[in-house]
Amino acid sequence: MLRSKPDQMCGITGYVGDRPGVRTVIDMLRRLEYRGYDSAGVAVATRGDEASGLAGGGDIEIVKAAGKLAVLEGELHDYWDKYGAAIGHTRWATHGGPTTPNAHPHYSNDGRIALIHNGIIENFQELRGELQAGGFRFTSETDTEVMVHLVERAYRQNGDMEQAIRDALTHVTGAYSIVVVSAHEPDTLYAAKTASPLIVGLGDGENFLASDIPAVLPYTRRVVVLEDGDFVTVTKTGMCLTTLAGQPVTREPFTVTWDEQTAEKGGFPHFMLKEIYEQPRAIADTLRGRISPEETVILPELEAFSQKQLGAFTRVQIVACGTAYHAGMVAKRFWEHLLRRPVDVSVASEFRYGDPLVGPDTLCLVVSQSGETADTLAALREARRLGATIVSVVNVVGSSIARESDAVVYTQAGPEICVASTKAYVTQVVALYMIGLHLAFVEERLSQDALKVYVRDLTALPDAVESVLGGALLVEDLASRLAERTTFFYLGRGYDYAVSLEAALKLKEISYLHAEAYAAGEMKHGPLALVEPGVVVICFATEPRLFDKMLSNIKEVSARGGTVVAIVPEGETRADAAADEILRIPAVRTEFSPVVSVVPLQLLAYLIARARGCEIDQPRNLAKSVTVE
Ligand code: F6R
Repeated sequence: MLRSKPDQMCGITGYVGDRPGVRTVIDMLRRLEYRGYDSAGVAVATRGDEASGLAGGGDIEIVKAAGKLAVLEGELHDYWDKYGAAIGHTRWATHGGPTTPNAHPHYSNDGRIALIHNGIIENFQELRGELQAGGFRFTSETDTEVMVHLVERAYRQNGDMEQAIRDALTHVTGAYSIVVVSAHEPDTLYAAKTASPLIVGLGDGENFLASDIPAVLPYTRRVVVLEDGDFVTVTKTGMCLTTLAGQPVTREPFTVTWDEQTAEKGGFPHFMLKEIYEQPRAIADTLRGRISPEETVILPELEAFSQKQLGAFTRVQIVACGTAYHAGMVAKRFWEHLLRRPVDVSVASEFRYGDPLVGPDTLCLVVSQSGETADTLAALREARRLGATIVSVVNVVGSSIARESDAVVYTQAGPEICVASTKAYVTQVVALYMIGLHLAFVEERLSQDALKVYVRDLTALPDAVESVLGGALLVEDLASRLAERTTFFYLGRGYDYAVSLEAALKLKEISYLHAEAYAAGEMKHGPLALVEPGVVVICFATEPRLFDKMLSNIKEVSARGGTVVAIVPEGETRADAAADEILRIPAVRTEFSPVVSVVPLQLLAYLIARARGCEIDQPRNLAKSVTVE
């Protein structure tokens, strides 16, 4: 199985050579379109000399537009055929809605430097304040814009573009890949990378930059993949690779042999597998900027609510559909334990036509990847009509649910393309943990010391998930033994029950197999009658307090001939004798195990569906965003 660390949010392209720059970067962006985006933009450094065929120039021209590339193209007019070094960007909004001013490139106050960015700048608020105090004007709400002003400030001091960019980067913390074009050095592109992907495509008398390989494939197959901490200067004739601190770096290019379709998926056969592998990054991004140096949770999104207001909520109502509902089930257990007040979780389609006990004393949590699910939106409106305060956990910035909420805590999963949700689920759960911890701390139900321990355990989750992915070969073996089976049960208690529901949903969605989840204690009240040889029963047993109870359930299933697959924490061996198969997961805090234990089951669902030849990324009868009732 292929292993890498893909990461796709915004699309980045750059070109320097003799082709028309704008046309080339737009063509490259089109090859990244499959990832989804909400706005786009280009910048070109026009030389203004005869050879370039341009009138005027010697400047940076920038065109950007909210919406699809076609909208941007409609705005380009005579820019379309401009020559000169160019950069292009498709944005997946994180900070600031999907508007034209928030689209990249962002530009310096003197209009001579333009910058595109993929990633999240954690300390942008503080830098923004500092730059504004220094007289810099901001034209967007993004975290990105601070970087271009930092570059301009440094350039004013040292008159050296490369040095100015290096200097600017010393001030920012967070994750980024950036590309800069400037009128000061119109034949050069500068790029740097910490966490988000960036590659250089090496052509003949021309060179390319992109966030992903498919963008450059029509032009070249010789590629250098940049690593964290790289800084690269790219001209028509070559590239110079150094560290951020300026130490030379040697890295051999490699020749891409993938076809374009495989390249779109980062070398993975399906988006689902790619998105499963993106989960450590997605969780880290969702935590990014939200954990203080003192190990508390910072959620500026909730600042609008005073301690008094938060304390006044006597109940919490969670509404969501499908996978998002399963994330809500995890939150219910966690929040009730922390906040000691009733938390109801309802399927949105039931809530909207019920007679819910919701009023001004209710905090309504709306969970949705797309932010457009019709039932969830209707439930939100019903809760609002009844006087509840609405806080949503949403992945798509500026979506309807986000717009209609009193506050939004965005997950940072990035675009999810496969219909079956994976990285959105784990980031929803992580965001819900953070909100719960924040509220418990604000309400003084959790001491700073206790919070610290939770926070430390939260920040261990990306590595724990990475370690599950590292053991994917074991899941592959298991899948090859189970691929012909047709009936699957998923059992668990407590947190494990919520994960059972999600794991069963994954299998049924993409493999079309019968997969049912039950609270393990319920089996003997009916479903146990269905267990016979050939039936697979996946038993989650990650909660120490409930382990003995699960072990009894495992034995009940085993005695009736079912094939038991037990999911247990590392070091736990008590189920080994009774279970037919064991999957061990890293031992994490019980409350956080849903983020880790779901991962081998996402993989199992994927591998079984693949073995059965199913259409994985777009399963029959299903849509990514369910905008009808
Ligand atoms: C399952 C899945 C769906 C969605 C549900 C809600 O893999 O993706 O069950 O979770 O349709 O969608 P959102 O989260 O966009 O509201």
